[in-house]
Amino acid sequence: MQIDFGNITAHERYKLLTAAVVPRPIALVSTLAPDGTVNAAPFSFFNVFSEDPALAVLGLQHAPDGTIKDTTRHILDRGEFVINLVDRQLAQAMAVCAARFPANIGEVEIAGLSVSGSQHIKTPRITEAPVSLECRTWEIRKITPTRHLAIGEIIALSARDGLIDPETLYFDMNAYDPVGRLVANSYCHTDDRFELSIPTWPDDFSDMTPDQHQTFNQASPRGKP
Ligand SMILES: Cc1cc2nc3c(=O)[nH]c(=O)nc-3n(C[C@H](O)[C@H](O)[C@H](O)COP(=O)(O)O)c2cc1C
Repeated sequence: MQIDFGNITAHERYKLLTAAVVPRPIALVSTLAPDGTVNAAPFSFFNVFSEDPALAVLGLQHAPDGTIKDTTRHILDRGEFVINLVDRQLAQAMAVCAARFPANIGEVEIAGLSVSGSQHIKTPRITEAPVSLECRTWEIRKITPTRHLAIGEIIALSARDGLIDPETLYFDMNAYDPVGRLVANSYCHTDDRFELSIPTWPDDFSDMTPDQHQTFNQASPRGKP
C-alpha cells in the first residue's frame, strides 16, 4: 500500500503518523502563567534533538476550538518551560492534565501532583516526575496559523533519587519505568527490553558468504543474528 500525503486530509495524516511512529515519549510540560498558576499538559509530539547544544522539540497545536493552548502561550510569554518525563506512577495524573481546564485552573493540584523549584528557571518542575528537564526557549516558531514548533535548550536535569548513578551517570533502567504513547488512548511500558550490539565492519562479516550476509541483514533487526 502506498499513500501520497498530498491526497489525504490532515486528520488522515495524523491518524497514520501517530500509529506508525510509536511509541512516542511523553513530555508533561510545566509552564507558569502570568498570575503564577502552574500549568501542566502532556505532549507526545516531543523528543530530544541533540546534546551540544542539548535541545528538545515540542509540537504545539492549537486546541480544537482554534484557541492557543496555555502551554504555548506561557512559553511565548516567559521563554522557559520544564519537560517532566512520565512513568507508570505518573500516567493517570498525566491524563488528567490533558483535560481542557480554564486557564486559571491549575491542573497540577487537580491531578494530585505537587511542584518543586527548578535549579535555574522560575517555572517549577513536577515533584512526582522521575526526570525533569529545565528548558530555556531556543526558538519558538509559528509553523502554521494553528501550530507552533518549540525548541528548548535543556539547561538542567533533576531525577528521582536512585535513578542515576552519581559516579557513572548511568540510569538504572530497572528503576526507571517510563511509559510511551501508542495511538489514541493506548500506551505501553518499556520493560520488554533486549540487547543488540552493532557489528563491526569488516571483522564481524569476514567469514560470511553472501547468503549469510543476506540472512544476517534480515535477522539482526529482530535481535537474532
Ligand atoms: C499523551 C498525550 C499526548 C499529547 N500530545 C500533544 C501534542 O504533541 N501536541 C498537542 O498540541 N497536544 C497534545 N496533547 C493534547 C494536550 O495535552 C491538551 O490539548 C492539553 O489540554 C493542553 O493543555 P494546555 O492548554 O494547558 O496547554 C496530548 C495529550 C495527551 C493525553
